Amino acid sequence: MPHRVGREAALPEHIEMIEDPVSGLRGAIVIHSTRLGPAAGGCRLWHYSNDNALLNDALRLAEGMSYKNAMAGLPLGGGKAVLQRPAGDFDRAALFQAFGRAVQRLEGTYITAEDVGSSVADMTAASSETAYVAGLASMGDRPGGDPSPWTARGVFVAMQAAVQRRSGGSLDGATVAVQGLGSVGNALCSLLHEAGARLIVTDPRTEAVRAAEEKWSAKAVALDDILDAKADIFAPCALGGVLDGHAIARLRVKLVCGAANNQLADSGADGLRLTRRRIDYAPDFVVNAGGIINVAAEYLNWTGAEVQDRVAAIAGRLVAVLDQADAHHIPPAEMAHRLAKDAIAIGTPVDREAIHA
Ligand code: NAI
Repeated sequence: MPHRVGREAALPEHIEMIEDPVSGLRGAIVIHSTRLGPAAGGCRLWHYSNDNALLNDALRLAEGMSYKNAMAGLPLGGGKAVLQRPAGDFDRAALFQAFGRAVQRLEGTYITAEDVGSSVADMTAASSETAYVAGLASMGDRPGGDPSPWTARGVFVAMQAAVQRRSGGSLDGATVAVQGLGSVGNALCSLLHEAGARLIVTDPRTEAVRAAEEKWSAKAVALDDILDAKADIFAPCALGGVLDGHAIARLRVKLVCGAANNQLADSGADGLRLTRRRIDYAPDFVVNAGGIINVAAEYLNWTGAEVQDRVAAIAGRLVAVLDQADAHHIPPAEMAHRLAKDAIAIGTPVDREAIHA
């Protein structure tokens, strides 16, 4: 039975440490909250220096999923699986099958999908052992497959809406500095280029940078220089924690809107720093929900059209959060957290119309 969670909803409902010596599986599944539905969140495969670091990441990410799912209006709670990447070569299929068995043991209180370090193929391996998995290859026009293009689409529509709200303008002719040209960053750049935006990009993978220069006439800068780029928008699409006091002081943009999870090193203090610098901040967990919307649709048997509508609605949600943040004189990240926590406390996902109430 799901526990009721309090207003702060910080403590997880359940932590499952998982281990399978045969395949090398070692990790944790954290169910932060099932108040709004089964806890949904991806499975991260990463190298951690120790179990504490792994568990801390899982706790933080699972909590973030509760807020993301609530803000996206999904009937889902928040959870996350974090696995230690074995050293050297390993049998991926065996590892993800063992993971699938661990997911199955939780009897549907946790639904998994791919995340950083895991893929559609890995989820397919897990699906031989559990029904509680999404992010499988899509069939026909049913939702499924790689969620990244949907994440990029959500960030893109949010960016359009934030620019329109601030200046009445569009992305045509705007300059966007994109940090990270992975699955989401690349798809976002493509949408921005189509919309007439100019791109400044960075990524440690030189081949990705070269491709961006060729395809979109992007201007490449060194990794650290992206923070000083003279642009209208900064789109963090690589790492978490990129915005601390030092980084925010260097920004020369009017809006931060990107896909990376947990962009603010300190969500309270750094949110306030951005507001004081009159930089609009699009809270990451509000605008990067496109992927989980697609995952939810796959699991809940929604149509492709439903995914499109819900991802398009991210734009209105962001505007509502920014408007309410202004009205309450608090930073947008704090406003979004308040809305998500309230939604979890009353047991109803955030309805966009209700944000204005
Ligand atoms: P990815 O792993 O495909 O891409 C990350 C890219 O960032 C890579 O190209 C990597 O080389 C680059 N990178 C690493 N360090 C960098 C640095 N210091 N400066 C610039 N670039 C750097 O990951 P993906 O899927 O594109 O996700 C990007 C971010 O968005 C991650 O933080 C992820 O957690 C978040 N996110 C992704 C979703 C999805 O649907 N894929 C959904 C929600 C959030």
